[in-house]
Amino acid sequence: MAWIALAYLVAGVFFILALRGLSSPATSRTGNRFGMIGMAVAVVTTLVTHMPTILHRPGFPNAPPSCLLSECMVAERLDVFSLGEILIAIAIGAIIGITIARRIAMTAMPELVAAFHSLVGLAAVLVGWAAYLNPGAFGLLTDTGIGAVSKVEMGLGIAIGAITFSGSVIAFAKLSGRMSGSPILLPARHVINLGTLAAIIVLTALFAMASGHEETMPLIIALTVLAFIIGFLLIIPIGGADMPVVVSMLNSYSGWAAAAMGFTLGNTAMIITGALVGSSGAILSYIMCRAMNRSFISVIAGGFGADDSAAGGEAREARPYKQGSADDAAFMLEQADKVIIIPGYGMAVAQAQHALREMTDILEEKGVEVKFAIHPVAGRMPGHMNVLLAEASVDYDKVFELEDINSEFAQADVAFIIGANDVVNPAAKTDKSSPIYGMPVFDVDKAKQVFFIKRSMGGVGYAGVDNDVFYMDQTMMLLSDAKKMVEEIVKALD
Ligand code: TAP
Repeated sequence: MAWIALAYLVAGVFFILALRGLSSPATSRTGNRFGMIGMAVAVVTTLVTHMPTILHRPGFPNAPPSCLLSECMVAERLDVFSLGEILIAIAIGAIIGITIARRIAMTAMPELVAAFHSLVGLAAVLVGWAAYLNPGAFGLLTDTGIGAVSKVEMGLGIAIGAITFSGSVIAFAKLSGRMSGSPILLPARHVINLGTLAAIIVLTALFAMASGHEETMPLIIALTVLAFIIGFLLIIPIGGADMPVVVSMLNSYSGWAAAAMGFTLGNTAMIITGALVGSSGAILSYIMCRAMNRSFISVIAGGFGADDSAAGGEAREARPYKQGSADDAAFMLEQADKVIIIPGYGMAVAQAQHALREMTDILEEKGVEVKFAIHPVAGRMPGHMNVLLAEASVDYDKVFELEDINSEFAQADVAFIIGANDVVNPAAKTDKSSPIYGMPVFDVDKAKQVFFIKRSMGGVGYAGVDNDVFYMDQTMMLLSDAKKMVEEIVKALD
């Protein structure tokens, strides 16, 4: 029916507006609202589409005396679910979603996203299997059984869904510390991965050509099991600093799984939404790969950036460094003309953004120019620092991306590093054996003075490597919790 296509198109337009809104912190709330409206339109349309068939179901008071074939087929679909059951399922899902979203700490967001992706993947696998076991209920039954094209869509949806599921479970376990973050490197893993992927493609083709449960069942079981295994194999070799790309890549996979299922179910909204999630996730992965100087293809192949020599941390030798106090820092900050602040994961942990904003206000009142430098992978999720600074009402026009501000460190009097570490580590430029080698980093060594806030000299960044910036002549280590240190600096400035 034309109105259904139109309603799904409207939902699709809202999703596009949502993505557009989410591209800037200033418009992200509006973007989120567009996304919610689009999803509401899609869900209500899907429910309303099935409403008449509930009434026409044989046995219902106003069912037509003779059930037409199409009505019987659709009516059969609703033998499984009633509107009441669907609404109860939506309510349970909404309560769980709202509770988790309210409770989750910002720092645990990436692992939550990975957990949610795993559910999208699992849903695609279950829908694929349901369509295979009961094709009539999905309108997929032809005179000769399930059509070959439907079987290809089914096979792809199940395979991508299973890869997304097991990959996301491993990403969740690694990000939440339930599993070691270091790469697990199997010998000949690239051969194993390519072989498994080839086997999945061959099995999908055989599944599409086979007919009857006896022939197709072993194929679809083997395909599902291999896809679960390859998802696991693709993610275990990826460790440390490369996890953000993996999360965004799995986001993309979950979109493609949903799009494949949209074809199986003949649901335009799922195809549009899946394609939007799939392509935006792929673009984000590409942008992040560029930010970290990684090759996109090697990400997809798995185990990139983790050659056997780079695995494992090195023993750290004790080296001399200078330590300062909040009073020392306040004195020098006041004298500066230009200060660049580099926030990182530690600022998020300490929730120091509000105190930092207060410090910025005081410095600006004293005539100091203050800018914020944001690395694309600072923190633990894309846009992590932007969200926190926006929460503390830091002006967007004071916040700069790496490529826009990196050349300004040479003119800066102070580089003020607060809870960042890997994103300022020069080993990324000089040490080929470092796990972060190749990732662009801030040139803080070019600033006249560097302040480095962290809690102790023992702590390391996400990649687990030592940082030469601690030991530079112009560096003053401010060892303390980030919020406490900035509050003390604010007091000293006042
Ligand atoms: P990290 O390299 O992880 O360094 C965090 C620093 O914060 C450490 O030096 C730590 O030292 C300090 N710290 C922790 N808690 C603190 C507190 N309460 N007060 C003061 N300092 C504290 O952070 P980064 O520079 O933001 O780099 C991000 C890393 O995470 C990159 O390797 C990136 O690839 C990875 N990663 C990023 C993402 C995304 S998408 N952004 C997702 C997953 C992983 P102490 O322990 O000594 O205090």
